[in-house]
Amino acid sequence: MNNVLVIDDEAGIRSILKDVLEDENYNVFLAEDGFSGLNILNNEPIDVVILDVWLPNMGGIEVLKKIKEEYPDIEVVVISGHANINLAVQAVKMGAFDFLEKPLSLDKIITVTRNAINLEKLKRENRSLKETVFLEDEMIGRHESIENIRKIIEQSAPTDARVLILGENGTGKELVARQIHRMSKRSGGPFIEVNCAAIPETLIESELFGHEKGAFTNAIQRKRGKFELADGGTIFLDEIADMSLNTQAKVLRVIQEMRFERIGGEESITVNVRLIAATNKDIEKEIRERRFREDLYFRLNVIPIHVPPLRARKEDIPLLVDYFLKKFKPQAAKEPKKISKDALEILMNYHWPGNIRELKNVIERVNIMSEEELITADTIKLYLGAKLNSDHDEWLKLFRGMKLGEARDMFEGEFIKSKLKANDYNLTKTARELGITTTNLYNKIKKLDIEVKK
Ligand SMILES: Nc1ncnc2c1ncn2[C@@H]1O[C@H](COP(=O)(O)OP(=O)(O)OP(=O)(O)O)[C@@H](O)[C@H]1O
Ligand SMILES: [Mg+2]
Repeated sequence: MNNVLVIDDEAGIRSILKDVLEDENYNVFLAEDGFSGLNILNNEPIDVVILDVWLPNMGGIEVLKKIKEEYPDIEVVVISGHANINLAVQAVKMGAFDFLEKPLSLDKIITVTRNAINLEKLKRENRSLKETVFLEDEMIGRHESIENIRKIIEQSAPTDARVLILGENGTGKELVARQIHRMSKRSGGPFIEVNCAAIPETLIESELFGHEKGAFTNAIQRKRGKFELADGGTIFLDEIADMSLNTQAKVLRVIQEMRFERIGGEESITVNVRLIAATNKDIEKEIRERRFREDLYFRLNVIPIHVPPLRARKEDIPLLVDYFLKKFKPQAAKEPKKISKDALEILMNYHWPGNIRELKNVIERVNIMSEEELITADTIKLYLGAKLNSDHDEWLKLFRGMKLGEARDMFEGEFIKSKLKANDYNLTKTARELGITTTNLYNKIKKLDIEVKK
């Protein structure tokens, strides 16, 4: 159903428009002045506004200006009396869709509203097309883990199965969620993201389920929650492990029944929503430590997807670098920048705590800040510099206060231990990897008193 907001100070006009438009199956909201009209726009997904140009307090032209600034997609139809037809013309010049002259012709109201709604829809579709095509990243990577994720996405997207995406910060969890939505039968519906960590505990319920006017002190208007806005589409609950146990209980109920009430409301609202959740926390640990409900976990975890950290798929780094170099090519440049071999090597050996997001940021910054066509190792060091050094410093702290001999022994010992472990305590293999003879390795193990488990 499409939502039309009528802003007019004359009660008679409001009631005529309400009747006519409701007969045409529109959802009609009424406001008697600019302020309350803008307030409704803030809280309801309005498609078209019918606005009187001659309003008390804030004039119609000013209201129109505000609407166009804040909601550029919403179409505005203005109403004017014969006496102020010049205002209506001015409004159209400022971006109003059309005007209706008093006395109102019912036929004209209906056709103009219908046309305005069609235009608004078209604009919205266009924009979401643009966003997906131009702004969203492709999923780059040939590592086995990524191929595997592609396969899971392909298989699960067309079903309505719930998906739980696990992975560190910046690994691409949201990208996976959007891809699932795009490849699903719901791709024409909304994709609504909720970052559970960013919303204060006191507001999260109202954010998810909405509230009725007057439900609490600041509830000046009714507000639809994210579950309601996602009807017919997908809701993406990001950072789900950051929800309080209390909210978890409510979410559990909603996903069992797909039904809920707005805060302070009686009416039970049923929605058809596909749920995708994500977290960067170790969710099993959260469950063990009783911070996450196990029953909710089982509900959400129908299809788990683990997105690996970038350091676990280093072979994808050159592909990603290439992709981001193209993406962030300076407008004036003919070709994307190139990167030198040793610069790429630094990128491949860095441990990327911020994963793909961090890599993307580095390449973007290099593109904005550096003039050179071939990105050198020095430039990369400059941009990663502080981080490269800080890791280095942390590591050096271990040896503080030691003599060189002690430090060398400690390092040798730790290094050999880790290699032994990685090779399942096979001495020949370990020695080969260390570039020393087996006898030499054996001697070092004895000297440094290293335990060799079997
Ligand atoms: N495989 C990939 N190929 C290209 N770009 C990617 C890939 N994975 C992630 N990105 C990009 O990296 C950035 C971070 O990804 P995203 O926001 O999906 O990560 P996230 O796991 O949700 O992070 P956070 O936990 O911080 O919310 C985004 O700009 C995304 O488009
Ligand atoms: Mg995210």
